[in-house]
Amino acid sequence: MMAGYLVIAIDGPAASGKGTLARRLAEHFGLDHLDTGLTYRAVAKALLDAGLPLDDEAEAQKVALAVDLAKLDRDVLSTHEVGEAASRIAVMPSVRRALVEKQREFARRAPGAVLDGRDIGTVVCPDADVKLYITATAPVRADRRWREILAGGGQAEYADILADVERRDARDMSRTDSPLKPAPDAHLLDTSEMDIETAFLTARAFVEKELARRSKA
Ligand code: DC
Repeated sequence: MMAGYLVIAIDGPAASGKGTLARRLAEHFGLDHLDTGLTYRAVAKALLDAGLPLDDEAEAQKVALAVDLAKLDRDVLSTHEVGEAASRIAVMPSVRRALVEKQREFARRAPGAVLDGRDIGTVVCPDADVKLYITATAPVRADRRWREILAGGGQAEYADILADVERRDARDMSRTDSPLKPAPDAHLLDTSEMDIETAFLTARAFVEKELARRSKA
């Protein structure tokens, strides 16, 4: 289904289900999708690969300016180590400025886009047509991640994952530049007791309401 130019901003903490929702909404409404977490991960991975320190902002900014959104490879960027490093470099204002510029360019292209991350509704696309803030309690998110790892044949301790989720939340929510928080006009969606299908249908209804409002305007 083509929706006409439309930008959907999705924010929320790690493992809230926002990525799956973003992909499904993009597919349903015929929009491009950008997981902005991958852009921070790409910077972190390039620094790790080059053996560079994670606290050198000038170096990290150089790497951020060179990130190519067309070359983000989820498979190589989704490791735990890269995620940890990404949340450390994501506190750097000059890295954020470089990546936000690229993310905005992506959102400007027709037919519009779904972007998911931490600061999409507040900073990257404050004029987005629909804003969603997806949450779930930390134990529920840790449990989802733990099951994913086991289902993929991996091994992990639930307690370690919970500690990790809580540490990542604290870092993402307490940084001075663009902390994770809902935009004042975001629809809040707590998926703690929702399966992904119900979450998708609820999110889709928010978008359909906006489209109906437009067609009447
Ligand atoms: O969603 P993720 O786990 O792939 O994100 C990795 C890190 O990147 C996360 O800890 C915070 C940061 N991030 C951010 O600061 N702003 C975004 N829009 C997306 C991710």
